[in-house]
Amino acid sequence: MTLSIRAIDPVSRPFFAGEVSGIDVTQPLSPSDVAAISAGMDRYGVLVFRDQRFTDETQLAFSRNFGALEQATGDIAQGHERRLSMDVNDISNLDKNNQVLARDDRRRLFGLGNRLWHSDSSFKAVPAKYSLLSARRIPSAGGNTEFADMRAAYDALDEDTKALCENVICEHSQLFSRAVLGFTEFTDDERRKFAPVQQRLVRRHPVTGRKSLFLASHAGAILGWPVPEARAFLRDLTEHATQRPFVYAHVWTQSDLVMWDNRVTMHRARPFDNSEVRDMHRTTVACEQSTMEQAA
Ligand code: OGA
Ligand code: MN
Repeated sequence: MTLSIRAIDPVSRPFFAGEVSGIDVTQPLSPSDVAAISAGMDRYGVLVFRDQRFTDETQLAFSRNFGALEQATGDIAQGHERRLSMDVNDISNLDKNNQVLARDDRRRLFGLGNRLWHSDSSFKAVPAKYSLLSARRIPSAGGNTEFADMRAAYDALDEDTKALCENVICEHSQLFSRAVLGFTEFTDDERRKFAPVQQRLVRRHPVTGRKSLFLASHAGAILGWPVPEARAFLRDLTEHATQRPFVYAHVWTQSDLVMWDNRVTMHRARPFDNSEVRDMHRTTVACEQSTMEQAA
């Protein structure tokens, strides 16, 4: 079998969200397979691979084909032991003993930040390039993940708005995104750790040259702008960018792997019944530089 990639919805989104078939990515890959997947990422921004029975080790090995990995941070565990290694982001509702977190558990409430549109690690000076999310156990209903095409969103802006965005620099912090949900109790240590970082609002993909909007719920200020005006503007842009024609909603099947390019997409989690288990493991490939170092 040979690797092939097709658009999931060729009529309405021929250039966004592809499905890869004919490859088992839990096995070591040839350089040409890695190149084909990279080219698929450049074209589609989101790739779905079905029936990939990863362990953390094989997921890490596959992820390392695409660059250096991020370490998990944003930890608000406060004395709780991690369930997974520092190389793997725990996107589950489980504690160390694989028990479902209580409704009011601080870790669960912090994790609800994923329900807001975002781009992974935009709150880090060097943000995420690819995220790879493996569905180990899914609830019986709900818990979809939605992806928005930020290249298409940029292209659809009118020329005045494009010009207004061009040299804008935003400040991103997890303090901002959590405050949106009313999660505001942070220790001094956490406040220091979550200090805002600067990111360009318009970025250019290094391979395709296409521009995209770099938005996230973590963005809470624009350099030189009054805060309410900045937030109103970012909210308008987010509303624009997440209109249905720009969105692919992934309905999970166990053992799906979804891989996305955070430079050209936003995503968000959708709700599910918290008495059920949802266990997803995420590995994350870092960008090579800050958006501040690249020309817009
Ligand atoms: C993530 C994320 C969304 C989801 O893994 O980065 O935001 O549906 N996940 O779990
Ligand atoms: Mn995320």
